Amino acid sequence: MSGATTDRSNQSESPRVSRRGLFGSALVAAGAATAGAVAGRVTASGENTSRTVDFHGAQQAGIATTAQSHALFLSCDLARRDRGVLRDLLAAWTETAVALTAGDRVPDKPDSAPGFSDHTDFATGLDPARLTITFGLGPSVFDEWSGLTDRRPRHLATLPEFTGDQLRPGWTGGDIMAQICSDDPQIVSHAFRALRARMPGLGNLRWTQHGFLSRPVDGGTPRNMFGHKDGTANPRIGSAAFDEAVWVNAPEEPEWFHGGTYLVFRKIRMSTAEWDQLSRPEQDRIIGRRRDDGSPLNGTAETDPVDLDARAANGEPVIPADAHVRLVHGIPMLRRGYSYDYGTLVATSASQAEANAESVPEHTHPAGTEPDHTHSGHAQLDAGLLFAAYMNNPPEQFVKAQRLLSGSDRLNTVVQHTGSAIFAMPPGIAVGQPIGVGLGL
Ligand code: HEM
Repeated sequence: MSGATTDRSNQSESPRVSRRGLFGSALVAAGAATAGAVAGRVTASGENTSRTVDFHGAQQAGIATTAQSHALFLSCDLARRDRGVLRDLLAAWTETAVALTAGDRVPDKPDSAPGFSDHTDFATGLDPARLTITFGLGPSVFDEWSGLTDRRPRHLATLPEFTGDQLRPGWTGGDIMAQICSDDPQIVSHAFRALRARMPGLGNLRWTQHGFLSRPVDGGTPRNMFGHKDGTANPRIGSAAFDEAVWVNAPEEPEWFHGGTYLVFRKIRMSTAEWDQLSRPEQDRIIGRRRDDGSPLNGTAETDPVDLDARAANGEPVIPADAHVRLVHGIPMLRRGYSYDYGTLVATSASQAEANAESVPEHTHPAGTEPDHTHSGHAQLDAGLLFAAYMNNPPEQFVKAQRLLSGSDRLNTVVQHTGSAIFAMPPGIAVGQPIGVGLGL
């Protein structure tokens, strides 16, 4: 059962029934709320101010949703490897996510002391700005301890090691994940804190990653940190190609997981300083597309088909043998990643040396580790791509692609994979159900 795909963001933004008047605006009922639809609120002046994406539906929101401009990926480990803890965390997070995505107040925990709230509602008065919260389960959830081994998604296993991997243990894996996306970064931060408030006794934070993605004014493909349009070859939301690449419906997969998908997450650092020193034609040869307009080197427009057989007058392939798109062309997946830029901890210029010495007290690092207790050591910029790709057959999609890339992609000279995780993203739920309801926890 893969169900019809809905672009949860691109649907009509005409005013719809809204569930709650958090913003003190007049609500206009204009049609039934569809699963995954974007709902709007209308102010007294008639302006449509609020956009919510329905949490409920056949598939989880936040996948077939046009990417919002801010994201936070959160990975946590269960406080105890105990099925009750897993059940309680998923139930608590579902309750929180349902409220937040609808623009409602987060319910206080039943055991909150009178007058105290588990979290500070610093999003009051803000528009949810298409907030989606999407949950995933790591391979460890289906180990012996849970009694769920017979329900393990077929391809849910830690990713193999790839040539050139420089994974930091602190940025890998996790039992449970949440992808929080919204067009407002404060909404993202608030949702994170609200989920975190439900974790004590149930889960321990493992890692978080924050990203951004700005869409050009013409609504076209966003650019990555190297300046190229990134996402051109993605299957279109709502198309048969999207459904075929993303949603699980293979008979070999456990029934409960049909309508779900897999998320492959990689933190990829991009050496922007080195990149900036390459000529533009060189950059274009590394990718196989032009930075300027996204056109393949064999064509003139972004939408022109990639022609791997095209040859220049001298007989050389127009798209070089080690170009990124040549290596992975035609491997289908939904790349829904975000850029990140964590900056540097300290500057290295001589004039700053003294100030740095004062602001960063002398300290040591554990033997055998790099000084990476920030994002990338003390003085290096950590910027790049939070690669987040949705697919229904990771061995035939991500693993196949990354094996090809890690062997010979010229892009490897300017990128490093430093974090990695895979999660099974359960199907969507109906009102009143917890995420992962089909597991029968
Ligand atoms: C920082 C690392 C990366 C950068 C800067 C990057 C950049 C790009 C760019 C600019 C394109 C062309 C435009 C498009 O079709 O979206 C592209 C295409 C693509 N990339 Fe990447 N990419 C990166 C990592 C990866 C990884 C790790 C994978 C998967 C293992 C991957 C898989 C793909 C695929 C499947 C395509 C479409 C190829 C086609 O069918 O023509 N990329 N990438």
